[in-house]
Amino acid sequence: MATSGIEIQPSTDDSGVDPRTIEGKLAELERRKAESRAGGGEKAVARQRERGKLTAHERLEILFDDGTFEEIDALVTHRTSRFGLGKQRHPGDAMVTGHGEIDGRLTFAYAQDFTVLGGSLSEVAAEKVVKVQDLSMKVGAPIIALNDGGGARIQEGVASLRGYGDLFLRNTLASGVVPQIGVSMGPNAGGGVYSPAIMDFIFMVDGIGQMYITGPDVIRAVSGEEVTHEDLGGARTHASKSGVAHFVIGGEEATIETVRTLLSYLPATNMEDPPYLDLGDDPERRNDDFLNLVPVDSMQAYDVRDVIRGIVDNGEFLEVHAQWARNISVGFGRMGGHTVGLVGNAPDALAGVLDIDASRKAARFVRFCDCFNIPLVTLVDVPGFLPGTQQEYGGIITHGAKLLYAYAEATVPKISVTLRKAYGGAHIVMSSKYLGSDVNLAWPTAEIAVMGAEGAVNVIHRRAIAEADDVDSTRARLIAEFEAEFSNPYQAAQLGYVDDVVDPRDTRRRVITALRMLARKSESLPPKKHGNIPL
Ligand code: HXC
Repeated sequence: MATSGIEIQPSTDDSGVDPRTIEGKLAELERRKAESRAGGGEKAVARQRERGKLTAHERLEILFDDGTFEEIDALVTHRTSRFGLGKQRHPGDAMVTGHGEIDGRLTFAYAQDFTVLGGSLSEVAAEKVVKVQDLSMKVGAPIIALNDGGGARIQEGVASLRGYGDLFLRNTLASGVVPQIGVSMGPNAGGGVYSPAIMDFIFMVDGIGQMYITGPDVIRAVSGEEVTHEDLGGARTHASKSGVAHFVIGGEEATIETVRTLLSYLPATNMEDPPYLDLGDDPERRNDDFLNLVPVDSMQAYDVRDVIRGIVDNGEFLEVHAQWARNISVGFGRMGGHTVGLVGNAPDALAGVLDIDASRKAARFVRFCDCFNIPLVTLVDVPGFLPGTQQEYGGIITHGAKLLYAYAEATVPKISVTLRKAYGGAHIVMSSKYLGSDVNLAWPTAEIAVMGAEGAVNVIHRRAIAEADDVDSTRARLIAEFEAEFSNPYQAAQLGYVDDVVDPRDTRRRVITALRMLARKSESLPPKKHGNIPL
């Protein structure tokens, strides 16, 4: 029998059970479910394994707590009959969707099944995704996409394009309402990259995940450029060059485990606070290491991630974008059991300067935290914005403004600690009092000024230095005078721009106390449709 051009297989049963009895009907149900679960069949699954990949069902089983995954729409089949698809039947149609629990919390997910027509997105596969997207919004729960497919199903023409459009619309409407996470676990091309791009975080499995708008063949045809799949859109490319990937991890299981870890920091919706988790770390714990970890000389480098790990509960810091724009570090930790978003300038990369990539990276992170009620803790040690034609031509004005905008707009509790230098515009950007930060602390080693002493003296004493008999000693004297006046936190403290200068060893206690004081902070922005962040 043929319906809508699709050849429906008769429900055969070799077992001899009468199909009209309940036993026969249960056997048919079981057979149909097994057919769906088998995906593209043994050969296709074997090819999937040769590529070092798990199947969609196996991935979902790892993602969810044991036995909690409930599949939806396992029996859906495609409607197209063109290009021989009428002779094929794939219950589930290259997409496995459903819900389950992650650490006991409801979560939705969908996984492309590459073993069926390369995981390509058909019209009905898109309808399946839309169903779980809508459910995740209605009930308020995160949604995870496990992506492994070749984009829109070519045989279906515009119907499959519309499918991607439906996904993009829902991704956008869900943005800032429920956390959305995309995981690249195979080739992702065309529409398969823009859906994750609208989501909050992209994970890529090292050596397996690939993301690009157009693949190497199209590039060769259009421009003659030769590039491999991996160089073009592999995990390392997106981790370090483009910044498209927030997390790159070796192995599918470890990647999925990190997705679970990330979710443990996040609320289910923007209407909730993040979950509380007491790791047993004393909120009063002092950090004697901090006296030596951060050199007093502001020209010397150190790793700000050590300071972050020193203040958060049990040193657990989930860094986001760990390989991209390393001159700033962002990520999640807990302080006194509550999730915080941490942002720290990193003087061991490009002297911790703010450039285009660092501004984009931190701005997006700040906005994510603000969406989901995650207080921001900012550690400041920044010499300024990176000067140069490359940055100006690249639009540092627009991109740097993103970070200003993000901090100014954020209404979650904002706490900053200036560790050492905070000069000029970069001082204003990095969660300053002027942008609405709630608590601003500084270490005695902080230098809050318009610029560093040497640069300042060269500008304001240029003539005196040029006319001096002994240029070097005059410059040194003027620098020392400037440092005594401004290379400290005390002018800012006198003006109330810094609320207190604190012993570095007490940083953890002071930040946790500030977080507790701000726990019921409520602030709203002027009514508007939405702001116009400089994109
Ligand atoms: C239908 C597809 C398909 C697709 C792959 N297949 N992509 N079928 N529609 N989009 C099928 C193949 O025909 C093949 O079927 C099976 O999946 C496995 O594919 P292979 O090519 O054998 O696998 P591999 O060598 O690993 O290459 C995977 C791949 C490649 C890199 C994904 O298949 C590829 O380049 N596909 C096209 C990608 C693409 O251009 N997508 C853009 C679609 S347009 P058999 O039967 O032989 O096993 C789009 C627009 C949305 O997405 C725009 C939104 C902004």
